Amino acid sequence: MGKALIIGAGGVAGVVAHKCCQNSDVFEEICIASRTLSKCEALKDRLQGGKTKVTTAQVDADNTQELIALIEKVKPDIVINVALPYQDLTIMDACLATKVDYLDTANYEPPDTAKFEYKWQWAYKEKFKEAGITAVLGCGFDPGVTGIFSAYALKHHFDEIHSIDILDANAGDHGYPFATNFNPEINIREVTAKGRYYENGQFVETEPMEIKRVYNFPEIGEKDMYLLYHEELESLAINIPGVKRIRFFMTFSQNYLTHLKVLENVGMTSIEPIDFEGHRIVPLQFLKAVLPEPASLGPRTKGKTNIGCIFTGLKDGKEKRYYLYNVCDHQECYQEVGSQAISYTTGVPAMIGAAMVLTGKWKKPGVYNVEEFDPDPFMEELSKFGLPWQENFNPDMVE
Ligand SMILES: NC(=O)c1ccc[n+]([C@@H]2O[C@H](COP(=O)([O-])OP(=O)(O)OC[C@H]3O[C@@H](n4cnc5c(N)ncnc54)[C@H](OP(=O)(O)O)[C@@H]3O)[C@@H](O)[C@H]2O)c1
Repeated sequence: MGKALIIGAGGVAGVVAHKCCQNSDVFEEICIASRTLSKCEALKDRLQGGKTKVTTAQVDADNTQELIALIEKVKPDIVINVALPYQDLTIMDACLATKVDYLDTANYEPPDTAKFEYKWQWAYKEKFKEAGITAVLGCGFDPGVTGIFSAYALKHHFDEIHSIDILDANAGDHGYPFATNFNPEINIREVTAKGRYYENGQFVETEPMEIKRVYNFPEIGEKDMYLLYHEELESLAINIPGVKRIRFFMTFSQNYLTHLKVLENVGMTSIEPIDFEGHRIVPLQFLKAVLPEPASLGPRTKGKTNIGCIFTGLKDGKEKRYYLYNVCDHQECYQEVGSQAISYTTGVPAMIGAAMVLTGKWKKPGVYNVEEFDPDPFMEELSKFGLPWQENFNPDMVE
C-alpha cells in the first residue's frame, strides 16, 4: 500500500522498522535513513526476510536541503521521524517542500534551551493544511498512547473528564549502576527540569522531583513516583474539553535519583558549553558519550513497564473513575524485536500512527496531536501489534 521513510536508527527506530515489516500489507517498502549509515545497515540486517522491501540511506537531518533531496529520491508516502526532537522542524520543512505526510514521537526542543513546547510545531498548522498534508505529533507511548487513551475514555466512558493522572512506571532492571532507557541527553533534560501540572486553567510549577507519591501498580507492585512536566499536558489541556487537572508521574528508584543528583551537583548534566583542552564541549553530551547506549540495554533488562491514565469525571450525571493501562515485559520485547520495552512502547505506536495515515483513517491535512484523531482504529491495532490494554473501573486513586 505505501512506503515510509524512517529517520533515525536508534532504539525506537529499530522497533518501528521491525513493526513495519510485521505489517507488510500497509508498509510495502521502508527506507531507514540516519546520520550513521552503518547503524541503518546493521538494523536492516536484523530485519529478517518478510515481504517489506528495506533500503537504507545516510542523511544529516539537521539539514533541510539534504532531507528534501532524500525524500525526492525515495518518494515516501510518509516520513516517520524517530531521530531526536532537535530535528523536528527541519524534517517538517522538508515534508512541506515535498508534500509528504509527517509523524513524530517527541516535540521540538531547541538544542540550547532545555524547554519543550508545541508552539514551534503548531505554527505549521496552516502551512500543512494548505499543502494538503498531515502531521501527527507525539505518537509514541507518552506522549502518544496516553493521548489516544484520553480520546478513547472521552468517547466511550465519560460525558466530561475532570482529571487525568498519567502514570509511567518502569520496573525494568538493566544491571548497570546508572543508564537511561532512551536517549540520555533527552531523558536527563526532561527529569532535571522543573515539574509542572495543569490545574483550573493554568500550569502550576514545582521544583524538580518535589512532589512524590507511592502507587501500587498492577503487575509491578508498589513504586515511588514523582511529578514531572511532560509534553502531552500542553495539548491535552486544550483538546480535552472541561478537564480541570492533569498530572504526570514517573517512577524512579532511589539509586537513579542519587546518581542523577551527584551528576547534577558536579555539573555533568549542564547544557552550557565549556572549554576543555581546546575544545568546546557540552557536559551533558559528554555524559551521553560515556553512558551505555539505550539500544544496548535490551539483552540485559528484566521486568515490566506499566504506563496508563487514571480518569475521573461524569457519565450520565454520576461520578466515575477509570484506569486504562498497558503492561509490557522487557524480555518479551527483546525476544521479539531485539529491544527493551521503552523503545518498544514508543516504536509500536509510531508504526500504528503511520499506518493510520497511510490507510486514510487519520488522513487530515494540518498539524494534529494524537487525541484529535479517532482513537478506535488505533486501539484495535495496539492489541494486535503487541501492546494490549487493560481496564479497571475501580482503581486506587493518586492522592
Ligand atoms: N513518546 C514517547 O513515548 C517516547 C519515548 C522514548 C523516546 N521518544 C523519542 O524517540 C526518539 C528516538 O529515541 P531513541 O531512544 O531511539 O534515541 P537514540 O537511540 O539516541 O536514536 C536517535 C537516532 O537519531 C539519529 N540522529 C540524531 N541526530 C541526527 C541527525 N542530525 N541526522 C540524522 N540522524 C540523527 C541518531 O544517529 P546516531 O546514531 O548517528 O547518533 C540515532 O540513530 C527521540 O526523539 C525521543 O525523544 C519518545
